[in-house]
Amino acid sequence: MLVPDIPIALPVAVCVIIVYTIGTLVYNVFFHPLHKYPGPFWWRACRLPWVMALAKGNLIVRVSEIHNEYGSVVRVAPDELAFIEADAWKDVYGHRTNEFTKSRRMYNISDKMIPKSILNEPKDEHAMIRRGLAHGFSEKSMREQEPLFKAYGDMLMDQMKELRLDAVTGEAKPVDMMSMYNFFTFDVIGTLSFGESFDCLSTAEYHPWIKTIFASLRDVAWVFGARYMGLDWLVDMTLKYGQENRKRNTEWAEAKIQKRIAVASERPDFLEGLLKKNEAGMLDWPRLRQTASVIVAAGSETTATLLSGVTYLLCMNPHAMEKLRNEVRSTFNSEDEITFTSVNSLMYMMACLNEALRMYPPIPGSLPRRSPKGGAMVAGHWVPENTDVAVWQWALCHNSSLWEAPLEYHPERFLGDERFARDRRECLKPFSVGPRDCIGKNLAYAEMRLILARIMFNFELSIAEESRNWMDQRVFVLWEKPALNVYLKPVR
Ligand code: HEM
Ligand SMILES: *[C@@H]1O[C@H](CO)[C@@H](O)[C@H](O)[C@H]1NC(C)=O
Ligand SMILES: *[C@@H]1O[C@H](CO)[C@@H](O)[C@H](O)[C@H]1NC(C)=O
Repeated sequence: MLVPDIPIALPVAVCVIIVYTIGTLVYNVFFHPLHKYPGPFWWRACRLPWVMALAKGNLIVRVSEIHNEYGSVVRVAPDELAFIEADAWKDVYGHRTNEFTKSRRMYNISDKMIPKSILNEPKDEHAMIRRGLAHGFSEKSMREQEPLFKAYGDMLMDQMKELRLDAVTGEAKPVDMMSMYNFFTFDVIGTLSFGESFDCLSTAEYHPWIKTIFASLRDVAWVFGARYMGLDWLVDMTLKYGQENRKRNTEWAEAKIQKRIAVASERPDFLEGLLKKNEAGMLDWPRLRQTASVIVAAGSETTATLLSGVTYLLCMNPHAMEKLRNEVRSTFNSEDEITFTSVNSLMYMMACLNEALRMYPPIPGSLPRRSPKGGAMVAGHWVPENTDVAVWQWALCHNSSLWEAPLEYHPERFLGDERFARDRRECLKPFSVGPRDCIGKNLAYAEMRLILARIMFNFELSIAEESRNWMDQRVFVLWEKPALNVYLKPVR
């Protein structure tokens, strides 16, 4: 008797769900603390449009369009604001007494299944890891690491020379520079983080460890989507599905690290500092391993993305390519002269890289932060507590009130050209800012300049027909980069 009839329970349940849903939508639009912030109706009412755009791979473009229509501060989900204002960088990401924290939904995907790392440790633990790594990223270490960059750079040049001709017919054929850059950056960072490379360059193939990272990118977008919809069971299910791969990668990392320890002797790599924290009992093994893995992913794909982007943009802008080539070839008489120190003098190259970072930022979306207890001011706007806030890199870099001709590639805008006098260059923060900014920024610049200089010194580049629209890509957290086919002609 106490058990209700199914035929009655069902409609009641349906009604409750409908009333609850409508109630939530009405609350979000009219009564939510963020109700005064502008944005498209359905985006303010529920999270669904945001998640759907994420899953389709066009969220960054949609957010950019929303800014276009509603202004520089917009509500892109019931509890989330997006900013395209220069001051928002320091207010959201910078040092302050009541700091914003990394949004749990994005950074703590699963406390159960994935160990913490430098990316999502709370403030104090994060600072401890960062201090441990400081030496590995110092000027001194970078100088000690230079021979390694030279050696892998040599291998890259050799592979490019070999692959540019068909092995059978001897005819010129395009080389996929996207893969080449990935091979190079993964081998370098693998060596610095695990003590051994992935042998990508020597085999001209992706290591299974890397394949898993790339294969899982779209899953990652889905996991985020589910997470944001509050469907934690779906998140857990998806993560379980990828468990085998993760286990294999963990074992691989473990074996490499053990091998590196067995070699003993101090080395100027990233592991050194982490191992010291481990010995001091401050960093347990799973978090050490996870941090090493995070550095590999954060330091390789990003750098390879920018190198691919700048290569494409230079090919499509022959005038800029010509200027850069002249700069490199008039600065160096031989390839040996190209070093970490000597590339510092290449001003036009620096502008080429920065302009590529603007047009094709390796981390193009948002780095969501959560507002502190009691709320906070961001770029002159009041943000109540428990709000996700982010600066959207791509949207910010493609807005014509902030940049002259934002869709065009003009390194000159970073060199004091009159035409770009009103450009808001302080908006460009592709490495983020504050206590959790990119620890590898200097290394990335050094690496990119070194390789680009050597390529400019050795080759003439021209884009293959099939890659002419290469930058039309979707974003699943990171860019979904297709092959970048380029013809390479040796200079001498
Ligand atoms: C063009 C290349 C690169 C770009 C655009 C880039 C961008 C970024 C950005 C935007 C962040 C902040 C992430 C967040 O707030 O969640 C970050 C963090 C980080 N990056 Fe990079 N990065 C690049 C290269 C590198 C390199 C070469 C390394 C290492 C060798 C590296 C290691 C890291 C690490 C470890 C973090 C986390 C830092 C922390 O949480 O304290 N990155 N990077
Ligand atoms: C640029 O951003 C402003 C808000 O700061 C917005 O009003 C404008 O429409 C945007 N323009 C474009 C072309 O995106
Ligand atoms: C992640 O979750 C843990 C516990 O669930 C919490 O202590 C930590 O602050 C969270 N990290 C971030 C970055 O929000």
